[in-house]
Amino acid sequence: MNKYSSITTDDTEINQRQQEPENITIISQQEKKKNSPFINKVLAIILILCLITIVFTFSFSSKYQTTSKKKEHKNAYKFMKENIQQNNNQMQNQNQTNQKVQTHDSSIDKSSNIPKNIQNFENNDDADNQKNNDSQQQDINEKNTSKDATKQGNTKDLINNLQMKEDQGDDYDGEAQTKQGNIRGSQIPQKEKENQKFISSKTVNEDTILWGHYKSHLIYNISQRKKNPLSMSMSYFPDMEINSIHTLYSKKAFQNEVFYDFKYNDGTRFSEYLINDKRYDFKVESIFIKQKANKNKQQWVNQHKIFKSTNFSPSRKTKSLIFSISQEVYDNNDLWNEGYFFHFKLSKNENSITIDAFQLKENNKNLVESKDTNKFLGSFVFTAEKDNELMSGIELQRLLSYSQLFMPRQENNWDVQKAISDNIIYQTRTLNNQETSGQQINNLILLQFTFLQEFEYKISISYDSSKKANEQKLPNKYPFDESLQKLIKQYEQQFVQSIESKGVSDNHNCTVFALSNLLGGMTYKYGNLQYTQREEERRSQPKSIFSFTPSRTRFGWPFLWDDGFHNAVASKFQPKLSAFVIKSWLDTMNEDGWICREQSRGEEAFGLCSCPAFIKKDNRDGNPPTLILTIEYFLREHVDIANELFQEGYFNKMEKWYHWYLKTQMVKDDLFTGNIQNFTDFERNSFVFKFWDQDGNIASMNSGLDDYPRNDNGRSFYEPIGHIDLQSWMYHFTSIMEHFSLLIQDMKKFEYYLSIKEIILSRTEEYFLDDRDSLYKDIISSTRSLKSTEFSPHFGYPNLLPLAFGIVKDDGYQLQTLMKRMQDQNILWTDYGLRSLSKSDSFYQRGNNYWTNPIWIQMNYLVLRGLNLYYKENEQATNLYSKLRKNVSNVVCKNWEKTGFFYENYNKHDNGQGSDAYPFTGWTATVALINAENY
Ligand SMILES: *[C@@H]1O[C@H](CO)[C@@H](O)[C@H](O)[C@H]1NC(C)=O
Ligand SMILES: *[C@@H]1O[C@H](CO)[C@@H](O)[C@H](O)[C@H]1NC(C)=O
Ligand SMILES: *[C@@H]1O[C@H](CO)[C@@H](O)[C@H](O)[C@H]1NC(C)=O
Ligand SMILES: *[C@@H]1O[C@H](CO)[C@@H](O)[C@H](O)[C@H]1NC(C)=O
Ligand SMILES: *[C@@H]1O[C@H](CO)[C@@H](O)[C@H](O)[C@H]1NC(C)=O
Ligand SMILES: *[C@@H]1O[C@H](CO)[C@@H](O)[C@H](O)[C@H]1NC(C)=O
Repeated sequence: MNKYSSITTDDTEINQRQQEPENITIISQQEKKKNSPFINKVLAIILILCLITIVFTFSFSSKYQTTSKKKEHKNAYKFMKENIQQNNNQMQNQNQTNQKVQTHDSSIDKSSNIPKNIQNFENNDDADNQKNNDSQQQDINEKNTSKDATKQGNTKDLINNLQMKEDQGDDYDGEAQTKQGNIRGSQIPQKEKENQKFISSKTVNEDTILWGHYKSHLIYNISQRKKNPLSMSMSYFPDMEINSIHTLYSKKAFQNEVFYDFKYNDGTRFSEYLINDKRYDFKVESIFIKQKANKNKQQWVNQHKIFKSTNFSPSRKTKSLIFSISQEVYDNNDLWNEGYFFHFKLSKNENSITIDAFQLKENNKNLVESKDTNKFLGSFVFTAEKDNELMSGIELQRLLSYSQLFMPRQENNWDVQKAISDNIIYQTRTLNNQETSGQQINNLILLQFTFLQEFEYKISISYDSSKKANEQKLPNKYPFDESLQKLIKQYEQQFVQSIESKGVSDNHNCTVFALSNLLGGMTYKYGNLQYTQREEERRSQPKSIFSFTPSRTRFGWPFLWDDGFHNAVASKFQPKLSAFVIKSWLDTMNEDGWICREQSRGEEAFGLCSCPAFIKKDNRDGNPPTLILTIEYFLREHVDIANELFQEGYFNKMEKWYHWYLKTQMVKDDLFTGNIQNFTDFERNSFVFKFWDQDGNIASMNSGLDDYPRNDNGRSFYEPIGHIDLQSWMYHFTSIMEHFSLLIQDMKKFEYYLSIKEIILSRTEEYFLDDRDSLYKDIISSTRSLKSTEFSPHFGYPNLLPLAFGIVKDDGYQLQTLMKRMQDQNILWTDYGLRSLSKSDSFYQRGNNYWTNPIWIQMNYLVLRGLNLYYKENEQATNLYSKLRKNVSNVVCKNWEKTGFFYENYNKHDNGQGSDAYPFTGWTATVALINAENY
């Protein structure tokens, strides 16, 4: 059987990319006839563009607008060109798919270079494939497994009895095979062969991301991205400290002595994780590697290495790891309502502990015998090594205590911590070895391994969705270290190609840490959302959300405007994964086009936040539309993904979201009555934007800049009436929609967004630009009318947004005055980045000293990005860019080197130190892009 036939690697894609120019020529020759209407279309579009350009050049006379139009035109043409290439590539790909079958064989004999031990690990399966086919047919209700497994005798027999029902093309999914086809008989590069024990890093689909660390607020959890996930979690417990059982959950605040970090995490196929709890001299290194991830088979391995203690303490002889295997039922789960449960069958064997998992139908909590209602969900095999020696069954039993439990739905069945506390015998500090009687269902299994501090232990686990436990190989056989080294090497390569494409940064390790821990903060939630609509309490329909989180320990649930920055980073490394997240956010949109800011879905997530004020939402509450940063990146660099978004209806959702902003965040007053039906009616719409806020609060949670002052200090009757930050975001949002329309060749929409963009630009100048000093400012008013506005006296981050999106003109005034203010130490400049509010402001360091001085990395990122993208030709701007970049990069990375943490913000007390929540690898991770100068 040809196991290696479907090898795919990133290199395949690279090869493909290199071939592109050639392919395009070939196609355009072959398809000249077909293509000519296309060319006509392009010409027509260019013509239209020219017309538009002329019209707008006349209607708007400022110098900037003319240049901007030229730029527009150039960009537009670039987009069209890319679009054509894209289509051609798709055609080419389709053709090559057909050749797949013939090229399949070429890779068979390429397996000879696989490192020996990996090969053996695989080949054992092959050899025994035939022999053990029968055992596959075991009745899942068979009750003598434990005995049978013991009967299998020693380790060797166990390994020999392993079996893999390897289907053709089992290793990879269809997409990966298509790429394989593209190689067409050419030599497969050496690197590629090394890839074969892992899933492909570029293939991201529902199957490849089924398993992951999606309960990122927990210390260590591997679970499935679905409503009724099967999961395995690990937690630790130094036994003399009964109360330390709390360490199960990382949400507990901790001091600078506890570290839970991903050394590596690529978001799809592997992770290396380090727990270092200095309080208990406790250190674990955990490796997770996905071997197979397709529709038919999910297979992964996991190893936890428990280091020996460095200073033995007589009072702390032992420590434990507790594993739980459980089913979670998220809110409103159909499966549970219909009476289906998971059931786990535990067996203690010669060298392993095994658990088979089933889904079955309830019958008074007893197993239902009928075969068709039972589904096999996979099996887990645990082995233990002491100082690198595989432990025998007897030793293992001594190490182990366990509980088999049933978690009813009424009790929060995600709360495994409670189940553990309830089942620990306090005298022995071990679980109660409780077994369920014969046929009883148990949907939660707890395993506790208790270690002596003077040895090193390894607990290895394998999961296989298609094999019973007694058919699986022992996981300690897997070459963890070697595989990990290979994956790290590939990660580093992919990292250099994608993030550090402009050269490896000085702070490379800090950049890797940023990305790995951002990806390690991915979370999946499902359930209702509680919010208010016109003061009425509501619960939304249950939905799922898949997202990154700001801080695993402090803010372990999805935040809308944070996630735009998270994705700005992640999309560079793993664009397809990022596309999943963007889609997930757009899918949470309600019928009005509203996307809720904080997605504390389900009871568990709701419980994570102890601040109801933050959870309370109104469906007019907005947030800066930061997701567009990623959409922009797709339009620029991954037209294929942008096209996919369009084809799957996400362009329409973006339009709906966009119009929600126009309907709810646009200022209406007697000057502009507003017309929610017709936004081309410029006469009646202000195109002046302000974050909606219930009571005209000065502090605007919706702007994201919580305690930043937005009215005229004490004169609270002067309310904000236009927010320059939202104004700038809306300008950019409109521009992204305009570009997207062009990509999908909808010229009507293109013109629509272009017109709105121009009107926003002119209203921005008309209302937000203070002619006295050429700065853009918030506008405030005592009459809530645009007729009588004043400029807000505050100066800080909001005033920089026009620069971030290229609104500020490089005309000798606007850019100059702004840069002067930015570089003034008494205003925004510090040696660690730009502070949030001017030092000379009367609100400086007031409020919670949250957005009234501290340095926020994502805001500095926006400024750096703006300087780099729009003002490269201005020498002063370039100098400012370099100085600022160095400061920002250093404040994050030097703090990290010193403390091991990323922080929510910096320099709260003017000492350059990290402040507020930590570890915080949410948007602070934008430092990765700053380090790499990748915007
Ligand atoms: C596909 O391949 C066939 C022959 O292999 C060729 O005749 C045809 O033009 C190709 N089509 C495309 C779209 O490349
Ligand atoms: C294994 O058994 C299944 C079902 O009995 C059969 O379809 C399959 O061909 C067998 N495979 C091998 C390799 O013998
Ligand atoms: C399990 O083993 C017991 C004793 O060895 C035997 O009596 C019983 O029939 C077996 N059950 C099954 C389902 O094989
Ligand atoms: C791990 O995640 C799963 C799936 O969401 C959940 O059911 C389980 O309770 C978690 N483990 C712990 C220890 O909380
Ligand atoms: C970066 O990390 C690697 C691997 O952990 C280490 O070998 C190297 O010394 C680190 N470099 C710096 C400058 O700290
Ligand atoms: C929208 O308003 C503009 C300007 O008043 C008008 O020309 C246009 O016909 C209106 N469109 C619709 C659909 O009402």
